[in-house]
Amino acid sequence: MDTKVYNLFTPRNLLALSILWKEINAINDENIRAFFKFCFTASLGQASKMVFVVKRRGKFNGKTRKTPKKEVGSWVIGYWIPKEHFEINVWNCFENRYKKILKAKKIQNKMNYIVREGSRIENLLFSDYNLLLFKKPAQDVLKVFPDNSIDYVITDPPHGDRQPYLELSLMWNSWLGEHPEYEKEIVISDSKERNKNTENYFQLLKEVFQEIERVLKSGHYFSLMFNSLDDNTWINLFSIINNLNFELINVETFEYSAGSVVQDTRAGGLKTDFILTFRKTLIKDKNKIDVISINQEADVIIKLIEKYIQGQGRHTYQIINYLTIYFIKQNKLFKLSDLFKLLQREFKRDGNLWVGRR
Ligand SMILES: C[S@@+](CC[C@H](N)C(=O)[O-])C[C@H]1O[C@@H](n2cnc3c(N)ncnc32)[C@H](O)[C@@H]1O
Repeated sequence: MDTKVYNLFTPRNLLALSILWKEINAINDENIRAFFKFCFTASLGQASKMVFVVKRRGKFNGKTRKTPKKEVGSWVIGYWIPKEHFEINVWNCFENRYKKILKAKKIQNKMNYIVREGSRIENLLFSDYNLLLFKKPAQDVLKVFPDNSIDYVITDPPHGDRQPYLELSLMWNSWLGEHPEYEKEIVISDSKERNKNTENYFQLLKEVFQEIERVLKSGHYFSLMFNSLDDNTWINLFSIINNLNFELINVETFEYSAGSVVQDTRAGGLKTDFILTFRKTLIKDKNKIDVISINQEADVIIKLIEKYIQGQGRHTYQIINYLTIYFIKQNKLFKLSDLFKLLQREFKRDGNLWVGRR
C-alpha cells in the first residue's frame, strides 16, 4: 500500500480541504487564523477515507431490508482505509467542528479566570502572566526553569507502549507543516528504525522526572497520570520514583472522557487512568514502593476481591483499580499478571464481569 498522507483523502475532499486551508492561511488576524486552523485540523479525521461503513440489517417500516442500511462508523485508532468508506462533505465536517469549538469557547469565556499568556519564563516567575506554552520536549523545556521554583507539577506522559502519539499525529503535522522531534519522544515503538525501545522510554522518562524533582519546591506536589497492564512498566516506573526525592501521597482514578473502540471492547481493557500524587521530600529514609508477591498475600487478596464483587460483579479494570489503590497506599505494588492468574484460578465470570468464587 502506498503510505502517503494524501492517500487518506479522496481527490475531491483533498481539493476541497486544500481550498479551505489556503483561505484560512490568508486570514490576517493571528488569533482568528489559529482558531480556524484548530477547526480545520479537528475536522480532518471525519473528512478522510478512514470513516468506515457500518451495515445494519434489521427491520425498517416493519419490513426486513433487502439491502442493509449504511451508517457512518467511527474512526478507529491508527491509519487504516476500510474497504468501504464514506466521503463526507468537507464543508459539513468543518462547520460541525466550528460549531462545537465555538460552543466550547463561549463556555470558556464565562469562566471566572483570566489567561495572560507570556513568552518567557521570567514573565511567569516575576509578573502576573499565568500561561506559557511550549511546543518542545519536556526534558528540554524543564531545563530552563530554576531549582525549587515551581509550586505544582501535573503530567500525563505516554504510558509505556499504549499509543504511538507522534506517529499518530502524522496527518495533522503534515497539514500544519510541523516537524516534531521524533527522537525525543517518550514512547515505546515497534518500528525498528525509530530506536524507541523500553530502555530509551525509561531513560527519557527518568530525565523528565529528575527535572521535575529539581524544579519543584520542597514539600510541594507532583501528580502523574499513568496506567499500564504491563508488569515491567509499573516496576520500572516505581524504581525511578524510588530513587528520587518523591514520596507517594495519594492515588485516585479517573475515567477517560471518550473511550476508544479498542478500550471499550477489549476484555480486561482499561477504562480509567490513575493519578498518582507525590510530595517532594528531603527525608533520607522516605517510604519506597515494594513489589510484593501475590501468592504470599493470596488469602488477603482473595477475601478483598470476594467482598468487592459480592452482589454486583465487577470488571477486571475495577478489580485492578481497587487492589492497586489498596496496596499502593501501603507502598506495595503487585504484578498484574499474577492477579490475572489468580482471578482465572479462583473466580468465575459472567460475560465481562467477575461474579464469585469458583
Ligand atoms: C497520554 S498523552 C497525554 C494526553 C493528554 N493528557 C490529553 O488528554 O490530551 C501523552 C502525550 O505526551 C506527548 N509526549 C511524548 N513525548 C514527549 C516529550 N518528550 N515531551 C513532551 N510531551 C511528550 C505525546 O505526544 C502525547 O501527546
